[in-house]
Amino acid sequence: MPTYELANQVAIVSGAGQGMGRAIALRLAREGAAVIVADINLKTAMRVAEEIEAQAGSALPLKVDVTSRADTAQMVGESVACFGRLDILINNAGVLAVTPVLEMDDSAWDWQMNVNAKGVLYCSQAAARQMIAQGEGGRIITIASTAGKIPAGKDVPIAGYVASKHAAVGLSKQMALELARYNILVNCVFPGIVDTEMLEVVHGAIAKLEGLPAAEVRERAEASIPLGYFQSPQKVANMVAFLCSTDADYSVGSVFDVTGGAFPY
Ligand SMILES: NC(=O)c1ccc[n+]([C@@H]2O[C@H](COP(=O)([O-])OP(=O)(O)OC[C@H]3O[C@@H](n4cnc5c(N)ncnc54)[C@H](O)[C@@H]3O)[C@@H](O)[C@H]2O)c1
Repeated sequence: MPTYELANQVAIVSGAGQGMGRAIALRLAREGAAVIVADINLKTAMRVAEEIEAQAGSALPLKVDVTSRADTAQMVGESVACFGRLDILINNAGVLAVTPVLEMDDSAWDWQMNVNAKGVLYCSQAAARQMIAQGEGGRIITIASTAGKIPAGKDVPIAGYVASKHAAVGLSKQMALELARYNILVNCVFPGIVDTEMLEVVHGAIAKLEGLPAAEVRERAEASIPLGYFQSPQKVANMVAFLCSTDADYSVGSVFDVTGGAFPY
């Protein structure tokens, strides 16, 4: 049974082929929305679209690189061609490189800034133009990170990620003010430490830097969470579903933590 009524709504979820994007796409589809499953990896996007169809939802898998203006414009075009409109954009695609700041090279820096910050700009511009043309408002939600408000700490060398997430948050907050006049509500979600493939990569890289077993790094991270366990991607999807609903129609330019109490600053 849907909790929020999103029937007749059309949503794009970027980076929806796995992890949080997958959980968000499945949840919005369960709420009745038709979902564009956009990912740079078409194979995983197709798999998620099949999962949505298996639960009697509507989905369109698309290969989209969020750092390409052409791809993001086409993504919105396909939404209109296939489902007639666009109501919701979830800026979820993200990448992370574990690189101590003294070793940061251009490619690690540019990759994270391009996907995590410029990708939010490209997707949001294309989506907002369509929402404005429809004249009925919309929702744009950026899946940022607590790394978008505070640094990750001396033992977690992810400066490029922290910088790119701060940029995504600043951009989203400013977009929120400029787009509110069109009733396009822009907000951010800050997940804490979420059990996805990205987390495995982070713990593997930190373990290598510190010469520790990855399991030890994972245990240390889990112990730092006041609730005492990693959150599942579904916890973030729950917050996103709420923010897409009419119950959340007065939140603009806000940030919503889903962290189990971690990073409470
Ligand atoms: N896992 C965590 O602990 C955590 C915590 C806070 C925030 N986040 C953020 O949440 C979001 C989802 O993270 P996740 O853990 O599910 O990551 P993930 O690595 O499991 O999935 C990311 C998805 O984005 C896709 N992607 C990468 N580059 C892309 C591009 N250029 N264009 C389109 N798609 C692209 C990947 O193919 C993948 O399917 C990211 O923005 C991430 O930064 C993650």
